Amino acid sequence: MPDRAKVAVLISGTGTNMAALLYASRAEDCPYELVLVASNNPEAPGLRLAEAEGVATFALPHRGMSRAGHDAAIDAALREHGAEYVALAGYMRILTPEFVARWEGRMLNIHPSLLPKYKGLHTHGQALERGDTHAGCSVHLVTAELDDGPVLGQTPVAVLPGDTPDSLAARVLIAEHQLYPRVLAAHVRRERDPLWLVAQVRERALAQPETDETTSHGMPCFGVIGGKKFAYVATNHHGDGRTALLVKISGADEQAQLIENDPRSYYRPAYFGDAWIGIRLDLGDTDWDAIERWLNRSWRSVAPKKLTRLLEAAEEF
Ligand code: GAR
Repeated sequence: MPDRAKVAVLISGTGTNMAALLYASRAEDCPYELVLVASNNPEAPGLRLAEAEGVATFALPHRGMSRAGHDAAIDAALREHGAEYVALAGYMRILTPEFVARWEGRMLNIHPSLLPKYKGLHTHGQALERGDTHAGCSVHLVTAELDDGPVLGQTPVAVLPGDTPDSLAARVLIAEHQLYPRVLAAHVRRERDPLWLVAQVRERALAQPETDETTSHGMPCFGVIGGKKFAYVATNHHGDGRTALLVKISGADEQAQLIENDPRSYYRPAYFGDAWIGIRLDLGDTDWDAIERWLNRSWRSVAPKKLTRLLEAAEEF
């Protein structure tokens, strides 16, 4: 399958969730592959398993290292292996806000409770003590707050009479192994889905003053109302399979420069000439703040002077 999302998994222990993610990725239609399994514990059994299955591994004990230093070394390993997403799977480390910020929206965690209930440790004991009818597990995006962040998926698991924290944990773990691969696949698929990508552009393009959306040759297209166009979204244009944003630039020199510096992300859009650049949106690592800046710059280049002047005046205050 072309262009699978590259995922690194961080573990501290047994790594059964990592194994579930790994074996799910063996399915032909799985949209992700594991490029690295890393751990703060060189003895983690999951590392041996990953090695045997041909997945690169990296182990770095945290003892004697500062938290920031350890996170930076893990981050370097993730980048070296081309990771686009990070899946925490029983990684028992508090992460620095810097590390979390670098992977914002691209780092998932699995937690053995129905969040927002029972953050932290000993979740099953708490569910039993409270007399909950259901325990469960959650996959969520990682934010700076521990076991917080938007929940992407959950599975409730019924509590049985006579359950102990261990017996409940064992059943919840089965649910975890089903949930994590499914949620991770949906998350990475979404960022490659043309409809989702168009919606992201639309939100940012229509935020430009006096802008509306039309369609041109089947492409969603954004322009100043009654005026010039400043952005198009090409989805599988001429069957090239790409989803890309086309925006205005200064001309042939800038176009050539952008493509030379980053041929993976930029291309010369057919039939648009030198004043436009194609920016790939479907590579899984789109920087949406940068896209917003491109849209704004492109809008400024076509907006009537009276509009840009108003804006500049407003910006001075
Ligand atoms: C899993 O139950 C996971 O939900 C939990 O650790 C276990 C790891 O098992 N994670 C947390 O408690 C995070 N707060 P595994 O190593 O076999 O995947």
